Amino acid sequence: MSIKDIEVEELILWEEKRQQEGIELIASENYQSKDVLAVQSSVFANKYAEWYPGRRYYWGQEFTDKLESLAIERAKKIFHSDHANVQALSGAAANICFYTAAMNPWDSILWLEMWHWGHLTHGSPVTFFSKVFNFYGYSTKPDWSIDYEQIRSLAHEHHPKVILAWFSAYPRELDYEKFVEIAKEVWAIAYADISHIWWFIATWLLKNPLDYGFNAMMTTTHKSLRWPRWSIILSKGIVSNPLKKPEDTIENLPTRIDRAVFPWMQGWPHMNTIAGITVALKEVESENFKEYAKQALINAQIMAEEFLKLWYKLVTWWTDNHMIILDLSQETYNGADVEIALDKIWISVSKSLIPNDTRPPFRPSGVRIGTPAMTTRWVKENDIKKIVEFINKGIKERDNDKELEILRNEVKEFSTCFQI
Ligand SMILES: Cc1ncc(COP(=O)(O)O)c(C=O)c1O
Repeated sequence: MSIKDIEVEELILWEEKRQQEGIELIASENYQSKDVLAVQSSVFANKYAEWYPGRRYYWGQEFTDKLESLAIERAKKIFHSDHANVQALSGAAANICFYTAAMNPWDSILWLEMWHWGHLTHGSPVTFFSKVFNFYGYSTKPDWSIDYEQIRSLAHEHHPKVILAWFSAYPRELDYEKFVEIAKEVWAIAYADISHIWWFIATWLLKNPLDYGFNAMMTTTHKSLRWPRWSIILSKGIVSNPLKKPEDTIENLPTRIDRAVFPWMQGWPHMNTIAGITVALKEVESENFKEYAKQALINAQIMAEEFLKLWYKLVTWWTDNHMIILDLSQETYNGADVEIALDKIWISVSKSLIPNDTRPPFRPSGVRIGTPAMTTRWVKENDIKKIVEFINKGIKERDNDKELEILRNEVKEFSTCFQI
């Protein structure tokens, strides 16, 4: 890329170098394809397109309508939904839009407590909407499995409008039938935030909540997926006349979601970003992407195996997806110490709370490590073993700057073999 603003161009080049020479293991980060990046700076960025295809407020929408409809149809097909809204600006925005579509103020919702990996936007008291809706948290059991009996008893006690599944850092699969069974007992909407595992659902490596009776789900498009920063809300139900007030029923959820996104919560969508996710949705259907998802899963399980061989403890013992979480609760060092030491050798990981953590959020007992980004660069089994070796050395030598400097050069040599 060559632009006239030399200061910004220089920063872009530095960032490119950082990404190329480092090992990216933050579970929610990835590299977008050249095509996806390119369409985001296309002329679609110039167009105001308030409302939905076929009923925009401004004129000149022939091609924006076609583009958004294409994104919607691709998303519906991949995720088996009756409806897709592709306009919510991010994961946080999509969750808030969904809550306003599904609930009235002071209604209740069940979520997995943040201390057990629920996301801030699932109901943390620091959010504005935790003042608008009543959030009741469920938790994991001592063996780190989800406590479904607790969900059932909270559901019968509080009669929530929504029961929320999926979280920010959970390496195992969920029992969707159980969630739906409980939701049906209390007439609640079953809703999944599949932001971290969507690519495995799209490639049939993990189960799709909508196939098991969930009413709706949301995903960010930028985490494990190599897409622009955005989100998609998918739902089952009747898509009725958007110009009429939708009835307050589960069947009418799709129309209520559309109205919640626009005009309740947002203004015009960024059509250039929608162009990006439309291209990315096509990439998901390619054999190359399926191969990629499969390899990311293999890489995560090899990584888990290697850490276990080195006597590290893993939260939930194993992984069914792309992330593993080291449990450092018995160690003298914590997740932040590891994050800082590895950053010095240009390996990026993220600290993470673990259930019933006795340490505070900024110095928690967990480290979350994910394989999506490095698998985009096609690292395979033996490369993963090498990466675990780097991490282990980085942790052991965390107070030895000289040793870290040597390691830094080894990491650089290794990383430059895998193009971004
Ligand atoms: C499960 C989950 N949902 C929602 C979000 C929020 O997404 P965004 O950062 O796009 O607003 C996150 C972000 O980390 C997340 O992990």
